[in-house]
Amino acid sequence: MSQYSFAQYQESADAIRAKIGDFQPKVAMILGSGLGFLGDEVEHPIAVPYAQIPHFKVSTAPGHKGQLVFGTLEGQAVAVMQGRMHHYEGYSYEEVSYAVRVLRLLGCDTLVVTNAAGCVNREWSAGDLMLITDHIKIFMESPLRGENLPQFGPRFPDASHLYTPALREVARQAAAELSIPLREGVYMYFPGPQYETPAEVRFARVAGADAVGMSTAPEVITAGHCGMQVLGFTLLSNMAAGILDQPLSEQEVLDAAEAAREKFSGLVRACLRRL
Ligand code: HPA
Repeated sequence: MSQYSFAQYQESADAIRAKIGDFQPKVAMILGSGLGFLGDEVEHPIAVPYAQIPHFKVSTAPGHKGQLVFGTLEGQAVAVMQGRMHHYEGYSYEEVSYAVRVLRLLGCDTLVVTNAAGCVNREWSAGDLMLITDHIKIFMESPLRGENLPQFGPRFPDASHLYTPALREVARQAAAELSIPLREGVYMYFPGPQYETPAEVRFARVAGADAVGMSTAPEVITAGHCGMQVLGFTLLSNMAAGILDQPLSEQEVLDAAEAAREKFSGLVRACLRRL
């Protein structure tokens, strides 16, 4: 049994439509730890708090505001999620990615996702930016578990190119233009909220991961299912557990996000200009 019916997604979309009039969003953006401020830079903004949208959940994680902002950014019609839902907050994966389908119904065909994550690749450094080329999410269920809603996509969706190759090329060009070094790698999803153990990080490395984090993969699976193009970036906010002889802390993640603010937002904006 699917928890949400197509009618519920439609109800949420209709409620938002009533607030944004005939504005047509094209690019949905889910901004992770520390990048939510981009939502404040949207021009001609119409903010819709999650609490005012039927069936929406609120995000409880620190640094996540809990509203959708519609408007333009670098000339693109965007719908910015200031604050995402995480599984560790107690939400199901279907709830975590609920908004993606609603934004699809509102007309978005592209999803830009950002997150902060631990750096697994020993050759790289904390503070580096990574273009997500693929992800690993093999533990716990899929956001698509349950009855399939064929209005969104097929029962068994292809996942060979979840992170759209053409958009990855856009990101490379944007990074080159701005002289921002951009790593490319695989993001491995862990449910959290505890950071990984050193053994789990070693496991992630041999599995082929370059970064470990607690978000993004559920929303991207849902976006791929409903035919959206996806562009994903990770701020490698810290070396993953066990690499350095120091404990991980949320403060370290937030500080890294603050330090990378200009570089990260510049890159995302440059990509928007090229979409
Ligand atoms: N692990 C998981 N999630 C994270 C990390 C990490 O090291 N850093 C920021 N988010």
